[in-house]
Amino acid sequence: MLCSVLVFLSLSILSTKSQDIGVLILARGGSKGIPLKNLQTVGGISLLCRAIITARRSDLKQVVVSTDHPLIALEAVTCGATPFKRSKVTATDWAPSIWGVQEYLWSNSEINTLVLIQATSPLTKPSQLRLALNKLNIPKPVDCVFSVARSYSLRWRYENGNVFPLNFHVFNRPRRQDWKGELIETGAFYVSRRTILEKGLFQNNNCSVVEMSVVESLEVDSYSDLLIANALI
Ligand SMILES: *[C@@H]1O[C@H](CO)[C@@H](O)[C@H](O)[C@H]1NC(C)=O
Repeated sequence: MLCSVLVFLSLSILSTKSQDIGVLILARGGSKGIPLKNLQTVGGISLLCRAIITARRSDLKQVVVSTDHPLIALEAVTCGATPFKRSKVTATDWAPSIWGVQEYLWSNSEINTLVLIQATSPLTKPSQLRLALNKLNIPKPVDCVFSVARSYSLRWRYENGNVFPLNFHVFNRPRRQDWKGELIETGAFYVSRRTILEKGLFQNNNCSVVEMSVVESLEVDSYSDLLIANALI
């Protein structure tokens, strides 16, 4: 009895909460490197469509694609998302993505949590997005959750003709089995509360992370990345 009341309560909390979650993909037309990069295909499906499908499979049904380009808007609709007209100023090369996010938030005042998905990370899994949303509240509420991959790279800094280790001691090189490594932001997704986005931040010091494998965190920036992504999918 108590159990079913609890289930009912948590379900109703979840259902009211989920209405306040916005899912956004920023997809400019004027991408550097590969022109119209988001429309490039991996495994026969465009990067943009893949990101939309991944979001929808993680039960995030209302996916919005903010774009300044008609072909990208068309692809968004084809793949079940809603296009949002991105203004010219937030779609320039130098405009930070937080501007694109804020522009969208200003016209959607009901949203209090935003999931920003990067279409250039085609190996993101729906379960990882679900986990990210979960981690926003469990085990304790945080302001932000983002994707990371673990790295065991030993990093060095070059200065004045010498090299210095950055994350280890030369006399005590870490062994992989007793070093937890470092977390590298993959850029695949960011879940942030509106409160911090309005301050211009995706993250603060009250964040949690979702770990993905190094392979899953592949980011498509160049034609060779496209080749790798096609080989992996
Ligand atoms: C972290 O964020 C949550 C959700 O906004 C908040 O309830 C909590 O007080 C914050 N914790 C700290 C230490 O700021």
